[in-house]
Amino acid sequence: MFWLILLFFIFTKVSYSADHYTFKNCSRVDFCNTLRNRVPSDDYTLDATSITLSSDNKTLTARLKSSDNRSDLNLTLNGLQQNTFRLKITEVDSSRYELQDVLDGVPTPLSFGTIETGANSVTITTSDSNFVILNYSPFNIEFIKNGVTEIIFNGNQLSLEINNATSPFTFGVTFPQAVQLYGLHEHCETLALKNTSLNGTDPYRLKNSDVGYYEIESPMALYGAVPVLYGHGINATEGVFLHNAAEQWIETTNNPLGSSHAYFIVETGTLDLFVLLGPTPKEVVRQYTALTGRAPVPPLWSLGYHQSRYSYESQDIVANISSNFDDNNFQLDAIWLDIDYTDGFKYFTWNYTTFSDPVSLQRILASTNKKLVTIIDPHIKVEKGYSVYDRALANDFFVKNPNGSVFQGPCWPGTSSYIDFLNPAARNYYSSLYSYDNFPNSTSTISGIWNDMNEPSVFDNSLEMTLPGDSRHNGNVKHREIHNIYGYLQTMATYHGLLDRDNHQRRPFILTRSHFAGSQRYAAHWTGDNQADWSYLHAAFQGCLTANILGLVFCGADVGGFFNNPSNELMERWYQAGAWLPFFRAHSSKDTKRREPYLLPEESQTVIREAIQTRYKHLPVWYTLFYEHRRTGDPIIRPLFYQYPEERAAYKIDNQVLVGTDILVRAVYGTNVTEVDVYFPAGENEVWVSATSDDVRAGTGLTTIAVVREYSPIYYKRGAIITRKDTIRSNTVEMEKDCHTLYYTANEDGTAHGTIYLDDGISFKYRDQSDFKYISIDIDSTHISFTTLDGSGDYEFVVEKIVRRDIVSLPKNGTPGSYKETILTRDADGELLKNIKTTVIKLK
Ligand SMILES: *[C@@H]1O[C@H](CO)[C@@H](O)[C@H](O)[C@H]1NC(C)=O
Ligand SMILES: *[C@@H]1O[C@H](CO)[C@@H](O)[C@H](O)[C@H]1NC(C)=O
Ligand SMILES: *[C@@H]1O[C@H](CO)[C@@H](O)[C@H](O)[C@H]1NC(C)=O
Ligand SMILES: *[C@@H]1O[C@H](CO)[C@@H](O)[C@H](O)[C@H]1NC(C)=O
Ligand SMILES: *[C@@H]1O[C@H](CO)[C@@H](O)[C@H](O)[C@H]1NC(C)=O
Ligand SMILES: *[C@@H]1O[C@H](CO)[C@@H](O)[C@H](O)[C@H]1NC(C)=O
Ligand SMILES: *[C@@H]1O[C@H](CO)[C@@H](O)[C@H](O)[C@H]1NC(C)=O
Ligand SMILES: *[C@@H]1O[C@H](CO)[C@@H](O)[C@H](O)[C@H]1NC(C)=O
Ligand SMILES: *[C@@H]1O[C@H](CO)[C@@H](O)[C@H](O)[C@H]1NC(C)=O
Ligand SMILES: *[C@@H]1O[C@H](CO)[C@@H](O)[C@H](O)[C@H]1NC(C)=O
Ligand SMILES: *[C@@H]1O[C@H](CO)[C@@H](O)[C@H](O)[C@H]1NC(C)=O
Ligand SMILES: *[C@@H]1O[C@H](CO)[C@@H](O)[C@H](O)[C@H]1NC(C)=O
Repeated sequence: MFWLILLFFIFTKVSYSADHYTFKNCSRVDFCNTLRNRVPSDDYTLDATSITLSSDNKTLTARLKSSDNRSDLNLTLNGLQQNTFRLKITEVDSSRYELQDVLDGVPTPLSFGTIETGANSVTITTSDSNFVILNYSPFNIEFIKNGVTEIIFNGNQLSLEINNATSPFTFGVTFPQAVQLYGLHEHCETLALKNTSLNGTDPYRLKNSDVGYYEIESPMALYGAVPVLYGHGINATEGVFLHNAAEQWIETTNNPLGSSHAYFIVETGTLDLFVLLGPTPKEVVRQYTALTGRAPVPPLWSLGYHQSRYSYESQDIVANISSNFDDNNFQLDAIWLDIDYTDGFKYFTWNYTTFSDPVSLQRILASTNKKLVTIIDPHIKVEKGYSVYDRALANDFFVKNPNGSVFQGPCWPGTSSYIDFLNPAARNYYSSLYSYDNFPNSTSTISGIWNDMNEPSVFDNSLEMTLPGDSRHNGNVKHREIHNIYGYLQTMATYHGLLDRDNHQRRPFILTRSHFAGSQRYAAHWTGDNQADWSYLHAAFQGCLTANILGLVFCGADVGGFFNNPSNELMERWYQAGAWLPFFRAHSSKDTKRREPYLLPEESQTVIREAIQTRYKHLPVWYTLFYEHRRTGDPIIRPLFYQYPEERAAYKIDNQVLVGTDILVRAVYGTNVTEVDVYFPAGENEVWVSATSDDVRAGTGLTTIAVVREYSPIYYKRGAIITRKDTIRSNTVEMEKDCHTLYYTANEDGTAHGTIYLDDGISFKYRDQSDFKYISIDIDSTHISFTTLDGSGDYEFVVEKIVRRDIVSLPKNGTPGSYKETILTRDADGELLKNIKTTVIKLK
């Protein structure tokens, strides 16, 4: 076994590509290989006489008859709120595993309206006027909204192999309106999914895996799984969410004429499908996040810049980094400790040789308002006397082998066992380990926890680097039935542990590598072990855009790339890009050169300092967007297709993001780039005003823009008010009392609009006591007004400056326009802004 691991490392380090021997393709996975080639066939017929509506009118059931000797099937259909349906199909005497713990509460079914039974089909209406038609033979289901068929569940691709609790199943969905498919996180892939069926490209695989040196634009499974697929076209956007955590492979076909299609091949578990009828990208995302939940408002500090490395190996090094950041005027909120701070990779311990006084280190960081984040992985070193292990063993909290013995496999500490997070008692135990008493020498300066290796990773190539599918969880559940929620359940336990640790007074911050649908409720995630190459900078935008439309809004990528040494130019561009993803952390591997920004040449430092400052200046924008996400489910960063669903030429654009609705940022990736194409959406009347030069552009599609070293292109939308904090401080804590600066370019009628969210940045009072303020800012040609939209907290919104950018000339026929800047500041009284008659400038 170990020689294989060794071989793996040697092989991958030399080649810098993924290990295709360890991580199988479809043809080497029996159920995929068999079922991928299944010829569609109408094996099932709906028995019209079996259609039954429950007495409360909320559940429709029917029987599907098999034409061969397979089991008949039960079909269950519910209409849910917000144009959502739930469809379950199982064998009549199924004992298939039903997924628990993922949904954010039990969705409430609505009453159906009318049911019209015909000779060939039954038509059901819902109270919100959607139609579902179940056709008997050939069997299929049509979901219709506003008279448009949005989704067809194809009966001829339905197969539940035999009446066998662990057997695979397949089904197909067609999106008649869709020309482009999105979703199916996590792959290192373009935002717009590809056709997988042609030229032997594998289907997209979802099986959480610790893949070293993962490759660009690949259907290989990565660390997380979100089995959500959206179909999008000009006339409708819709989606499906397969509530199932087993390994699966999805064949996708994008049809430019409509009727895009997907075929799901699933190893085990239940066919439990949520159908989301949109009909716009915004609605479909809201429908999905209503099911799996929304991210809580993060602690404000976590939106600052984070410095990490595998590893900072002593407390002196950490203290030195902290003072170097301060001395060189680089803003910083947190320093991260990777695995080497521990005593022999035993989590919740310290290596006291290198961290001789962890509390004093935490005090040093706290004295300059910085935080410490420590890594805590789910594998537990097998060692008698290590109390975390001893107690877990004594209480039967580890994953087991089929014969009932405790599973052991190699990981960082050597032989390890794995906490069984499916067991609620094991989760409680794990949560308790985070308490200040159980994690010796931890203080509140450890403000965040990093859950890594939680696919989970097992260093055994013959197991595809994870637990065997046959290993057992609480209730004799096989690992293959829940594989994709292992990391999700770990972060759930960590979240509750941090809540308890701080008596529910502080918002936990957790970063996780593995994730599942709904992980947004507990943790941020990043794109794992990327590489110091331009293509991975682009992939950071691609991955986080996909994550953001799937609810996983708090997303980032290792700035600079984890593996290999970036050029200074790559570092500069990556900071410029990374500052515009929701999670902003630099991280690097052991065998790379140290690359904290102050170690780079002076000119690079200047560029990077500016990029980090740009991030901090826009903190109010980020924070407000997180709050708005919590209200609505809307993404923080958005692809163009989401905001401009009719803009077909933009469906595949994934090298630029919209931050909220109002800021457009293009990543620059490549050596010596002097110009890039930026896509400006929505036609002549949508005007975009550069935040870094006097350039003004209209929404007429791809436009070549000159690029300078100092900035990547950043544009503010005309009519938007961007609220910033422009005073440069060392970190978010020190910015707390700073006043705001408003930036805007008025629409032709002189108006502009924005919002701002204010709270204490730390506690749950915003949630429990309405202790926040959510404010609408509205400008017309003479007034600026502030209106409280929600919240009753005692927060002052103090504006010290307004930067007005008046259009001098509009862009025309490809020629850019320009603007003139006027800065309005407070007058001597400190109350009114010159030249603007204010209704209220100070809120109270
Ligand atoms: C699947 O992987 C094996 C082993 O890496 C390789 O030999 C084979 O060509 C691959 N098959 C396809 C269809 O990619
Ligand atoms: C169910 O629907 C039937 C027919 O539409 C109606 O008569 C009945 O009152 C409904 N029952 C409930 C519980 O809504
Ligand atoms: C029943 O199904 C099995 C497995 O699919 C097959 O081998 C067998 O021939 C079938 N029997 C009949 C009577 O159709
Ligand atoms: C299938 O439906 C029948 C009633 O038609 C019910 O008795 C049975 O429990 C259902 N099976 C499952 C697995 O839910
Ligand atoms: C159930 O299905 C699995 C996977 O297809 C197969 O290996 C196993 O033999 C089946 N068990 C029974 C009892 O049919
Ligand atoms: C399939 O291969 C052909 C020839 O190599 C190529 O032109 C085409 O773009 C490929 N199609 C897909 C979907 O990859
Ligand atoms: C959108 O709907 C219109 C009107 O029904 C139809 O003519 C058009 O073909 C549809 N477009 C697509 C891409 O499906
Ligand atoms: C994907 O497949 C569809 C249907 O076969 C085809 O019309 C379309 O051109 C393909 N797209 C690409 C990019 O090959
Ligand atoms: C602290 O950092 C500076 C700048 O990188 C370096 O020159 C110095 O050797 C470091 N000191 C220690 C004790 O690590
Ligand atoms: C502690 O750190 C030192 C220095 O890196 C290392 O040599 C030693 O093996 C570590 N001890 C343990 C128990 O991890
Ligand atoms: C905390 O660290 C100190 C060394 O700084 C050590 O002496 C002490 O035993 C540790 N406390 C616990 C509870 O382990
Ligand atoms: C980039 O520009 C530098 C300096 O002008 C030059 O030395 C280098 O060759 C250029 N690199 C590429 C890939 O064009």
